[in-house]
Amino acid sequence: MDMYAVIGHPIAHSKSPKIHAMFAQQTRQDMEYLALQAPLDGFRQTVSDFFAKGGKGVNVTVPFKEQARAFATECSLEAEYSGAVNTLMIGRPAGSASLPTPGRSADGRRESEPRFTYGHNTDGEGLVADLQTNIGFRLAGQSVLLVGAGGAAKGCLHPLLEAGVSRLTVTNRSPSKAFALVSMAAENRKSRRADDSVLDACALADTAHLTMRPYDLIINATSASLQADVPDLPVELVRADQLIYDMMYSHDDTAFITWCKRHGATHCADGIGMLVEQAAAAFRLWRGVVPDTAPVLEALRKGL
Ligand code: ATR
Repeated sequence: MDMYAVIGHPIAHSKSPKIHAMFAQQTRQDMEYLALQAPLDGFRQTVSDFFAKGGKGVNVTVPFKEQARAFATECSLEAEYSGAVNTLMIGRPAGSASLPTPGRSADGRRESEPRFTYGHNTDGEGLVADLQTNIGFRLAGQSVLLVGAGGAAKGCLHPLLEAGVSRLTVTNRSPSKAFALVSMAAENRKSRRADDSVLDACALADTAHLTMRPYDLIINATSASLQADVPDLPVELVRADQLIYDMMYSHDDTAFITWCKRHGATHCADGIGMLVEQAAAAFRLWRGVVPDTAPVLEALRKGL
């Protein structure tokens, strides 16, 4: 039986084992999926031990996504651009070039560590799939306000641009992080001669001028909802004809969705769909099989 795991700290709350068990049952994959809590200073050891015992792949969650990027010997554009990895596997995904002959690592890796590990970030793919497939919001040509510039926002910038948004503004409480994110994304796009959607950044404290041009979609990628807090946005940004998306999720409306509804939003979604879709993208990478996310999403919603 093939073994997979999610590694984080803490990890008890993770829904990934349940999601992957449902995917495996549905697609008849002979696999086991564990939840492993790594010590805060022990990610590398935990993931190495798991691979040494025969583990085939891992999902990585807070606070280890940047360390997982460093662990991967190769990675996807999404991982490269975001500097964060949430999915690791031994070798390369099905369909890519064959592996070179394994040999002793010359890059300081320990002998016990796998020589070839591929890292990917499925967060943005999960967000885009949830928006476009589950919610039916086509991103091409739309204007998007991304609130937050931490780990959750980083993984989504490149996939949103690839989906063809016409304008993407990143705003953050600490403005330097928003500006750094946008300039890195602009550099990446220049090097790939990608199209020229408008990409800009501003301080959260300086968002009043954004109300002049309404956004089709506002995404809350901050962790403020965890403290039942709401990023300090002008209420005029909220409109009845736009989509509000909170990457957080809970049984009741999140603090951000509650606030937006109070100020006139009528079309709101939380991040439970993104959670299931990012897991499906990892499952497909590992197993080469596409799971049906709809029944899994329904089961998770019922259990919230
Ligand atoms: P995650 O991996 O969940 O993105 P993170 O990397 O710690 O976690 O980032 C948290 C994000 O939420 C940051 O953009 C943070 O803003 P700062 O960079 O200014 O810290 C944002 N955030 C958290 N609480 C917030 C609040 N009450 N209001 C506005 N932004 C908040």
